[in-house]
Amino acid sequence: MIQFEKVVKRFGPRTILKELTLHVPAGEILFILGTSGTGKSVLLKTLVGLLRPDEGEIWIDGQEVSKFSEIEYLGIRKKCGMVFQQPALFDSLTVFENVAFGLRRHYRLPEAEIVSRVHSSLAAVHLPDASEKMPGEISYGMQKRVSLARTLALRPQVLLFDEPTTGLDPITTASVNLLIEELSRQFSTTSIVVSHDMTCALSIADRIIMLDQGRIVEEGSPDHMKRSQVPLVKEFLAEVVT
Ligand SMILES: Nc1ncnc2c1ncn2[C@@H]1O[C@H](COP(=O)(O)OP(=O)(O)O)[C@@H](O)[C@H]1O
Ligand SMILES: [Mg+2]
Repeated sequence: MIQFEKVVKRFGPRTILKELTLHVPAGEILFILGTSGTGKSVLLKTLVGLLRPDEGEIWIDGQEVSKFSEIEYLGIRKKCGMVFQQPALFDSLTVFENVAFGLRRHYRLPEAEIVSRVHSSLAAVHLPDASEKMPGEISYGMQKRVSLARTLALRPQVLLFDEPTTGLDPITTASVNLLIEELSRQFSTTSIVVSHDMTCALSIADRIIMLDQGRIVEEGSPDHMKRSQVPLVKEFLAEVVT
């Protein structure tokens, strides 16, 4: 359902994505691992049209989207829900209104439908009673859940996570990882998780890709990765908490 075909992305003289080819079947949980500055966020941004590739093709659901206009991209962004690293909630809005925000903005739905979607999304992230709280009154981990609920409320077919657990304590990290898996299965989404957490990737990914300087240097199932002889993969494996 998602295909990158020889995608090249440059910034000035620097080539960030180097003829990247990647196929993600519907329903897969794919982890993209790699060190900082290697092009992971750029890859996600090219998928949702926040950045445009210089060469190559990007296919989503049978449509080549890389030359779509901004207007055409709106449809793609409804399909692909992005969960950013920072929760970025509106401080002056309740949790309910934060989750409802995108729904009100992008869809004309009856209020009862909005209420029902907000409540079911908050329940899905295990925050059934938080709707009247303000972001400042809840923990950072809970704010991350709210930002996830906000994306879920839009019912995306694809969930994109950019370093969802970076900067979180181990317990919150574990709960966010569990949620990613639970929600992907429950809503049958295709999920792409950009991360440098090999431990988590091994436990929930269907497939893992190791990106290095804009190229895929290894890919395969968690079991395949565990046996990999690629030096960068071995470095990541050395960090794995068992
Ligand atoms: N909008 C931009 N303009 C210029 N350079 C950028 C831009 N976005 C990212 N880069 C550069 O591209 C490289 C890859 O960035 P990024 O994808 O954010 O790395 P990461 O793998 O850590 O997510 C970095 O060297 C970064 O400085
Ligand atoms: Mg990044």
